[in-house]
Amino acid sequence: MATQPHGEQPQLPIPGVQHLIAVGSGKGGVGKTTVAVNLAVALAGLGYKAGLLDADVYGPNVPLMMGIQETPHAVDDIIQPLEQYGVRLMSMGFLSPGDKPLVWRGPMLHSVIQQFLRRVNWGELDYLIIDLPPGTGDVQLSLIQTASISGAIVVTTPSDVSLEDARKAVNMFGQVRVPILGMVENMSYLTCPHCHERIDVFSTGGGRRTAEQMGVYFLGELALDPAVRIGGDSGNPITLKDSGDPHAAAYFQMARDVVRRVAEVGQESGPSIEVTD
Ligand SMILES: Nc1ncnc2c1ncn2[C@@H]1O[C@H](COP(=O)(O)OP(=O)(O)OP(=O)(O)O)[C@@H](O)[C@H]1O
Ligand SMILES: [Mg+2]
Repeated sequence: MATQPHGEQPQLPIPGVQHLIAVGSGKGGVGKTTVAVNLAVALAGLGYKAGLLDADVYGPNVPLMMGIQETPHAVDDIIQPLEQYGVRLMSMGFLSPGDKPLVWRGPMLHSVIQQFLRRVNWGELDYLIIDLPPGTGDVQLSLIQTASISGAIVVTTPSDVSLEDARKAVNMFGQVRVPILGMVENMSYLTCPHCHERIDVFSTGGGRRTAEQMGVYFLGELALDPAVRIGGDSGNPITLKDSGDPHAAAYFQMARDVVRRVAEVGQESGPSIEVTD
């Protein structure tokens, strides 16, 4: 059994789910959902049983980015997840479609997240990716403190403001003793479509540097490219393209790295955490 941060609730595993992986960042808009969606689709493409839990209850973007908007049904009060591109999915966006904002307070948020974790029939999964909302507040802590998370991925851009918030996210996971699988630098650079030169829109090298300074594994750079945004907006994640596509290839490489890192941090944490290959 994993450790109990602050002596609070035990961090319980989800039956049937081998590994929970949280994708977070201090800052909004850096590409968490894009990374979470493409990671889940890439893992499914590699033959793993993958799920994606959209824990952004206020601003759920997973339905749009996965190109599915249906209402899940419940059997004996257990919600059946939807499935798209081989990934099992749950999002507040499936239960409350439309653009009306949800105004919920801490305890209600806590209960929604708990229900998404424990009252959804996730079945047997190798990896359940959790797309966290931006920040280091209640939702993140509520989730992290009650579920046994194998590791976290921190997404940043190379800009100083994003890196500052990424450090906060690394520290938050550290405080609740969730191992960091790695830091990803998204929107690292743009390749000029005309002269093919690299343009460092948000500066360069900050993700790798920050990861090194904090003793965190660096999962690599992901380019800024309209094709990635179009994939997200159209519900066709870039990882649906074959590995000849450079962006898809980068995500598949990251997915393999994440699988390896999960096994590594599992071994570091001791034999109580089950490791799959
Ligand atoms: N590498 C990229 N290249 C181009 N566009 C990108 C890239 N990564 C993300 N985007 C786009 O940037 C926008 C923000 O990305 P995304 O929603 O994934 O960020 P987020 O961190 O989840 O945001 P939030 O904090 O609001 O949840 C989206 O329109 C997405 O398509
Ligand atoms: Mg998001």
